[in-house]
Amino acid sequence: MNPKRLTEHLKDKLIQQALERKLKQTTATELSGNIVHTRPETAAIPEAWYSFQQHPGYQQLQIIRKGSVKLGVSNPFFRVHDGIAGATTVIDGRQYLNFASYNYLGLSGHPRVCEAAKNTIDQYGTSVSASRLVSGERAIHRQLESAIADLYGVDAAVVLVSGHATNVTTIGYLFGANDLILHDELIHNSTLVGAHLSGAKRLPFPHNDYAALDAILSQQRPHYQRVLIVLEGLYSMDGDYPDLPQFVAIKKQHKAFLMVDEAHSLGVLGDNGLGIREHFGVDGKDVDIWMGTLSKSLAACGGYIAGESALIEHLKYLAPGFLYSVGMPPQVAAPALEALRILLEEPQRSQRLKALSAYFLAQAKTAGIDTGLSQGYAIVAAITGSSLRAGRLSQALFEQGINVQPILYPAVPEKSARLRFFICCDHTEQQIDQTIAAIKQAMG
Ligand SMILES: Cc1ncc(COP(=O)(O)O)c(C=O)c1O
Repeated sequence: MNPKRLTEHLKDKLIQQALERKLKQTTATELSGNIVHTRPETAAIPEAWYSFQQHPGYQQLQIIRKGSVKLGVSNPFFRVHDGIAGATTVIDGRQYLNFASYNYLGLSGHPRVCEAAKNTIDQYGTSVSASRLVSGERAIHRQLESAIADLYGVDAAVVLVSGHATNVTTIGYLFGANDLILHDELIHNSTLVGAHLSGAKRLPFPHNDYAALDAILSQQRPHYQRVLIVLEGLYSMDGDYPDLPQFVAIKKQHKAFLMVDEAHSLGVLGDNGLGIREHFGVDGKDVDIWMGTLSKSLAACGGYIAGESALIEHLKYLAPGFLYSVGMPPQVAAPALEALRILLEEPQRSQRLKALSAYFLAQAKTAGIDTGLSQGYAIVAAITGSSLRAGRLSQALFEQGINVQPILYPAVPEKSARLRFFICCDHTEQQIDQTIAAIKQAMG
C-alpha cells in the first residue's frame, strides 16, 4: 500500500473506532433512561445545521428568485425542449433560434448517430450494470477508446460516464498533498473540484498568461513533487484559447505535467475540427493528459482521458470515478463513436461552424456589441455589464423567438455578466443577422 493510501486507511480506521466508542456510550446512556433530545450538546445545535430550508446556498437562491420576480425577469433555466435542440428548437410548442446548446456539429439527432444508439440497445440492453473492471466491458467501449487514442496519436484512452466526474476523479486521484496544481484562472469547475479533492496546493495563473505561469513555476517548482498545469482548449465563458506551444515549452522546462481539457475545442478548433492539437500542429505526446467530453461535438454524454499507457491503465484500475462507477452504457458509447466518425469523414461541418462563428463575431462587433475575448470559434459572448441586464436581455430575446442563456454572477464577475451564444454548423447567416439585429435592438 502506498503511503497516501496507508494514511487514509489508518484515518478511516481511527474514525471507525471513534464512532464505535460513541455508539456504545449512546446505547448505555439510552439504557439508563437519558433520552436523546435532552442531551445538552444536542439541545445547543442550531436549527440551521439540520434544516435544508436554512442552508445558506438555498437562502441565497431564494433571495435571487424573489429579486428576479420583483424586477419582472422570468426564470430562464430548466426550459423544456420538445425535440432535438440544434440550430433551432421547439420549446412549449414554439420554434426558437437556438444558441443555448453545445450541439456544435449538429450531430445530436443526426440519423446515423441515433441509429448507432438504437442498434446498440438491441444488442446489449440499456446498462452494463456495474463497473467495467468487475463486471466486464463491451466491444463498443474498446472501439470508442481506441478511436479517441488515435485522434490524439497517443497510446490509449478511457471513457467515463460524466465529463465533470472525469476531471474530478483524474485530478483528485493522481495528485496529492506534496503536489502543486496550476490552472488558468478561468478553468472549469470540474478541475477546481478535482484539485480540491486531491489535497494538492492549488494556484490559479492569469488567463492565458504563459509568462506569468513561467514565473510562478520558477519560484514554486522546487517546493513540490509532481506539478500539474491545467488549461482548456477553448474557454467556454469567453470563446478564446491558449497558445498551446508556449505552454508545452514551459511544462517541459519545469518538468511538469500538462493537461488540456478539450470539452469545447474538439470539433471546433483545427482545420478539420480535430481540436487545439491540430490548430497548433502540436504532437499529441506533448500533452500528458488529454481530457474531453462526449457531450458536446460528440453528441453523447461522458468524458475521456487520453495519454500514455501508464496513465490510462492506472486510471482504469484505481481512479475511484472509474473503478467504483458503472461503465458507460453502450447506447451512449455508440453514438459518441459514430459522431467521431462523422467528424472525421465530414470536416466541412467544423469548417462551416468556424465560418459562421467568425461571421457572428464580425457582425456583433460591427453592431457595437462588446464580445469580450471571443475569438470567433463556436462561442461568442455579448457582455452586458450586469446580471440584471443579462437576465432582461435574455428574456427580451426569448420573447422574440431566440433562445440564449444569460451567464450571471457568480459564474462570472458581476461586471462581466453576459449572454453566451453557442453556434451550430446548421445555423445560417440569415439567422445570425436576425439575432444580431435583435440583440442590438434589445440593448437599446
Ligand atoms: C471545460 C469543461 N470541462 C468539463 C465539463 C464537464 O463536462 P460534462 O458537461 O460533459 O460533464 C464542461 C461542461 O460544460 C466544460 O465546459
